[in-house]
This record gives sequence, structure tokens and C-alpha cells, in this order.
Amino acid sequence: MSVSDHDLIQAWKQVLTLSKLEPGQIVTVLTSASTHPQTMSTAIIAAASLGATVNRLDVLPVNGEKALSRDSLAYLGTTPLTGNRAAIAALKESDLVLDLMTLLFSPEQHDILKSGTKILLAVEPPEVLVRMLPTLADRARVMAASAKLGKAKEMHVTSPAGTNVRFSLGQFPAISEYGFVDEPGRWDHWPSGFALTWANEGQAEGTIVLEKGDIVLPMKSYIQERIHFTIEKGFVTKIEGGVDAEILREYMASYNDPDAYAMSHIGWGLQPRAKWSTLGLYDREATIGMDARAYEGNFLFSFGPNNEAGGSRTTACHIDIPARNCTIKLDGEEVVRGGKVLDGGPVQQAAE
Ligand SMILES: [Fe+2]
Repeated sequence: MSVSDHDLIQAWKQVLTLSKLEPGQIVTVLTSASTHPQTMSTAIIAAASLGATVNRLDVLPVNGEKALSRDSLAYLGTTPLTGNRAAIAALKESDLVLDLMTLLFSPEQHDILKSGTKILLAVEPPEVLVRMLPTLADRARVMAASAKLGKAKEMHVTSPAGTNVRFSLGQFPAISEYGFVDEPGRWDHWPSGFALTWANEGQAEGTIVLEKGDIVLPMKSYIQERIHFTIEKGFVTKIEGGVDAEILREYMASYNDPDAYAMSHIGWGLQPRAKWSTLGLYDREATIGMDARAYEGNFLFSFGPNNEAGGSRTTACHIDIPARNCTIKLDGEEVVRGGKVLDGGPVQQAAE
């Protein structure tokens, strides 16, 4: 369904208020060729109506000749900001950047965040944004999960399909994605709702078996046959199965980069307004698949870079895989059992 400008402006106001935007602050709306025009225009109106000084910075797209798809997460590393000193300076001087383009996994994003600027990514279509409008309760739930994750030394994941994989933890921080940016230097993504971390370098071992119906991103498809991943010393060393496995193998090989096979972030979904089933309703280019990444109780694992966590891998290839029906244990304590989050459900009362 379409969303009215009024409703999207109200949604932006909620997100900007949760992000503690104050009158007189400088907001820069970062746009490029694929930016949704309604998302951009309503962001500008909402930020201005809250008293911010609003700029729009439009940059030219890059990597079109290299990427195998139009998905904004399908080719990482270099962005329209790479080597663009003028644009980076403008963003560093902003209090808040609304990234309607996708800077994720770029060195420039780290550089800008280090200056204290907040960055909020928002590239899903308007109806997805309003359905998954973040709340303080979302934040409280995700923060509680990431606090547990941040203390754990091991994550152990199993599933009826045969998953049995262990990740040693502690080297990298736990990260909370709840959809708004309420601290200086914070990055987040509207919509989201999950806790994540990275396994210690080289310390992921075991087997992950995707079941029919699980989703692989950026293919944005429900697989039709099981895929078996063998994980050794932090890397996926075998991807076996039918045609779905073959597609993934060819796609990852096209990057010609051993780091494409490294384990990337691991965690679980906590967003009750995100649905496993919505990907079946959308054209694949209409969404980047945040429903799939955030639906409650998924085991979200990935391959590719770890520079978001402070690691050194910056591979252009990034694969996100949310798996259903998994049981996730932290140091032996179940936090997700058979795809159900064991935290008592969404937090009703906001923590603050
Ligand atoms: Fe990811």
C-alpha cells in the first residue's frame, strides 16, 4: 500500500525525536540515484519542522559495473564518498546524517561517526518504514539482548535440520540495532531490531544447515533445497546442496576474494513487526530485505566483512542469512529455542 506524505512525515518526526534531534542542529540528507523521492522529501520536511537546519547532499552512484545486482548491499567497500573530501567534510560537520543511499561497511562511514556525527540509514520503501517504526520498547528489548551477548564467551546454534555450530566470543563488541540514533557517533538502520556480534577471529567451527524456506540475501529467495555450510577456523569451506547452493557458490566466487568466505556478524532477530513471509510479496529490487534480517527469533548469520566491528576485513561481498527454527545458546543458556525468543516477548514498558 502507498503511504501518505502526512504519515511518513509523522513517522520521520518520531524517529528524529527518538534520535534526540534538537532545534538548531544540522541534518544532512545523503541521497543518490536510488533514493526514494517520498522518503527524501518527507525527511526534509520533518527535520525542518523540528527546527533543524537541513541540507541535501546528492552524490553520484558507483560500482554499477561491478555489482551483480541493484541491491545497495551487494557491493561494499567503495562508495560515492570514497576520496570525496568535500562530501565527507560536510557530513562530519553535520549533527545527524540521514543516509538514504547506503554507506554501510565503508571506511568513510567510520570516519564520519568518529567525529560524533550520528548516521541513520533508511532505504526500505515507505510502507516498510511506517510498519516498522521504532519505539523505545524496541530499544529496551534489543539492548537487553545485546547486553547478554556482550558478556557471553560462546554462542552455540543448533537446528532440527542439522545445524551445530559454535562461535567463540569476546574479541568484538555486541551491537544493538533498534532503528534510531540517540547517542553521538551512533549508527543505526530504520527499520531493524536485532542484536549481533562477531566471532573471535578464526574461531567459528561446525555445520550450518539451511532448511527449505530459509532466506538467502542478497538473492532474496526462499531456498527450495537444504544448503549445508561447513565452517572451519572462521571461514565457510564448503557450500553443498542443490541449485540454491550452486547459485550462492557462483555468486561468492565472482568476488574473487578469500575474505568473502569469512564469518561476519552473528545474532538473532527481535522485531515482532518484521515478518519472514513478506519477501514473497515483493519484487526483489523493491526492498533490501530488512523484514528477513529482523524477524523475531531468526538466527541471522553472515559472511564477509568485519570492519563494522573494528576488524580488518573489508571485502565487497556480504551475504546475510536469517535461518528459522534454530536454538541459540549463550554459554549454555538458551536465548532462542526453536525460533522463539525466550525473553518474555516485546518489552511493554520503555526502559527510559
Ligand atoms: Fe549483514
